[in-house]
Amino acid sequence: MPGYNSLEKKLGFLKPLPVDENWSAAEDFLQLISDFCLQEKPRVIVECSSGVSSLVLARCCQLNRQGHVYSLENGSRFVKQSEQQLSAYSLNDYCDVIFSPLTGIVLNAENYQWYDINTFSEIETESRIDMLVIDGPPGFLQKNSRYPALPVLMTRLADSCSIFLDDAGRDDEKNIVEYWLRQFPEFQLTYIDNERGCSILKR
Ligand SMILES: C[S@@+](CC[C@H](N)C(=O)[O-])C[C@H]1O[C@@H](n2cnc3c(N)ncnc32)[C@H](O)[C@@H]1O
Repeated sequence: MPGYNSLEKKLGFLKPLPVDENWSAAEDFLQLISDFCLQEKPRVIVECSSGVSSLVLARCCQLNRQGHVYSLENGSRFVKQSEQQLSAYSLNDYCDVIFSPLTGIVLNAENYQWYDINTFSEIETESRIDMLVIDGPPGFLQKNSRYPALPVLMTRLADSCSIFLDDAGRDDEKNIVEYWLRQFPEFQLTYIDNERGCSILKR
């Protein structure tokens, strides 16, 4: 089990985070998103895939005394698991896990399986997304699995917003970022060369 002690200490978690060696985001990625969250205090946070990242972001909202996390999750058993974990850490007021099964979507004549956009009505509609964290759907599902995030959520993003893409060191994620920047040149890219790579896009 990887150690997440410094993150737990920084955020004041009283018990260890329920880290899954194979599936949880790496500690350095969680450090990056929590540092940003504590500093910028985003109000509307959307994440693609739930888990330890939901606990970390929800805890930041609790510390900030503002902000809410909407976590899109395609696996019903992971919805339940994440909800139970949020409850076990008394953080469920700060995060809604939205069951959002993967469904077919066509973008630029390519087929993708992505979170069902019909479930997005649960996300507060008046305010726009200030922070978007992308750690799903899993890469093995399809080529460029996480590409749809930006084209699909584009109209819901705040004018000033930040996007964090995990696993950005992989070839697919490098392609995805290249496509995004070509399509949406108003974003500026910072690449963090950490354990799995993180691309941060800001507008
Ligand atoms: C990389 S994981 C999400 C990790 C999450 N952001 C975190 O930091 O814990 C992406 C997706 O994999 C799925 N997943 C999580 N744990 C799994 C497991 N043990 N077996 C199969 N799929 C899993 C869930 O649907 C999850 O949304």
